[in-house]
Amino acid sequence: MNDEILRLLHVRGDFLSGEEISRQLNISRTAVWKRIGKLKDEGYEIESVPHKGYRLDPYPRGKIYGWTLEQAFAELNSRLFRKLIFAETLDSTNLEAKRRIAAQEEAGGMVVVCEMQTAGRGRRGRSWASPAGSGLWMSLFLRPDIQPSHAPMLTLVAGMAVRNALEELYGLDAFIKWPNDIIVRDRKICGILTEMTMEDLEMSGVVVGIGINVRSGAFPEELKDIAASIAEESGERSPDRAQLLCRVLARFEQYYETFIRTEDLSALREAYEAHCINIGRTVRVIAPAESYEAEALGIDAEGGLRIRLGDGTCKTVTSGEVTIRGVMGYGR
Ligand code: BTN
Repeated sequence: MNDEILRLLHVRGDFLSGEEISRQLNISRTAVWKRIGKLKDEGYEIESVPHKGYRLDPYPRGKIYGWTLEQAFAELNSRLFRKLIFAETLDSTNLEAKRRIAAQEEAGGMVVVCEMQTAGRGRRGRSWASPAGSGLWMSLFLRPDIQPSHAPMLTLVAGMAVRNALEELYGLDAFIKWPNDIIVRDRKICGILTEMTMEDLEMSGVVVGIGINVRSGAFPEELKDIAASIAEESGERSPDRAQLLCRVLARFEQYYETFIRTEDLSALREAYEAHCINIGRTVRVIAPAESYEAEALGIDAEGGLRIRLGDGTCKTVTSGEVTIRGVMGYGR
């Protein structure tokens, strides 16, 4: 019913009287008033003016509206991304993408977005805080024809796409912390979780989950010092998430085409390294059995981090084996 009210207001594009809504939906005026109140509580920007009725802000920025996303997505006219799913609340966009893939034969190129996740998932089994109005929580489902061992490279591709989108749209000085966290002024603004989907014991596709912090007001206290957000960093009060989604998708598609051509990161390596905060710096390498310091030299074509140890020897570590930390703060 609330969706129907929203649709009516959206189609009208101007003030619509409470009486007209009650007539069209066959509910009382009090019921209309209550439902509008509920929608406002959920964050919908609805203006109420006596004798005129209700009007939905046609250019909402503080809230994701499904049709604004759909419109922006249609205008993107992407070759790679053909289907957009939007839901107000999901447990996790990665889980929803996987459920849809399991339930029916989904072609690659599906994007799942939601306003709020109740069980957002981070890497290494951690949770990912995803309150409403605070971020762009999205998952991309692709069916690349690549070896399963190459799928993790897509997280680096996604990291590059997000980094570029943040710089282009908001002028942010954003860096990649290997392999794929995006860092602004030493705090994390975006995390990426890539998962493979399996069919008959074979990789059937890849879900790339991307969480970008847009406004940090509703974040839990413990994240305040370590999480950055676009609004806070750019000064833009309500960044337009439809625009952000489309820019990330556009950049992802561009890098993805290059990646698919070579099936590795050889052609993207230079661009990645140019924005990787760790390169040329000392990092702490944390492996299950040991932890040591090394200098980060660059990445290899498979996305591994090339490092130089204290004794001058060089080696490559992979994100499956180790995590790294900056020695002077998050990325540095
Ligand atoms: C990390 O730990 O850095 C990865 C965080 C990934 C979060 C995103 S939000 C959208 C997608 N759905 C999830 O449940 N997780 C990813």
